[in-house]
Amino acid sequence: MAPHSVPSVARLRVAALAAMLALPMSAAAQDLEPATIALGHALFQDRCASCHGTDAGGNGPAASTLSVPPPDLTEISKRAGGAFPAPRVVEIITYGGNIAAHGSGPMPVWGKVFSDEGGRGKVGAAASRRSVIALKRYLETIQR
Ligand code: HEC
Repeated sequence: MAPHSVPSVARLRVAALAAMLALPMSAAAQDLEPATIALGHALFQDRCASCHGTDAGGNGPAASTLSVPPPDLTEISKRAGGAFPAPRVVEIITYGGNIAAHGSGPMPVWGKVFSDEGGRGKVGAAASRRSVIALKRYLETIQR
């Protein structure tokens, strides 16, 4: 999908939050899914596609400048032996997971980026958590 056709991250954050507030808990868990995945998709195009590619295949425009090539993120499960390693993916997105291109190199650790952008203290931490979970859920849906 072309980047300009992806709904804005801000709009999707609001939609995800609105869905969460408007619905009773059991319904919320289900109806939140599409909004969460849409947010994850938009965040991915915005923050990750430069290296990992718009299709997550590892061929983003910045990929050739890196010493370690970005992995194909549609094959996370395959590389992990079949099951999607959700906790590991959350850890990598939140803390960098010892990936130089995410943390100790020129690239920031995403958990911190999202919390800095999200606001002070607990507000930022909650926003960051939502963004990380959305990215994790989106990645889970594109495994093949
Ligand atoms: C500056 C380029 C760059 C950007 C931007 C980037 N990544 Fe990465 N990512 C990498 C590289 C390089 C690796 C592999 C490093 C290694 O294996 O040591 C990687 C690895 C990963 C892995 C581990 C995959 C596996 O199977 O082990 C995940 C998950 C991941 N990235 C998610 C993301 C997400 C989500 C974003 C956006 C929020 C993102 N990346 C943004 C360069 C980038």
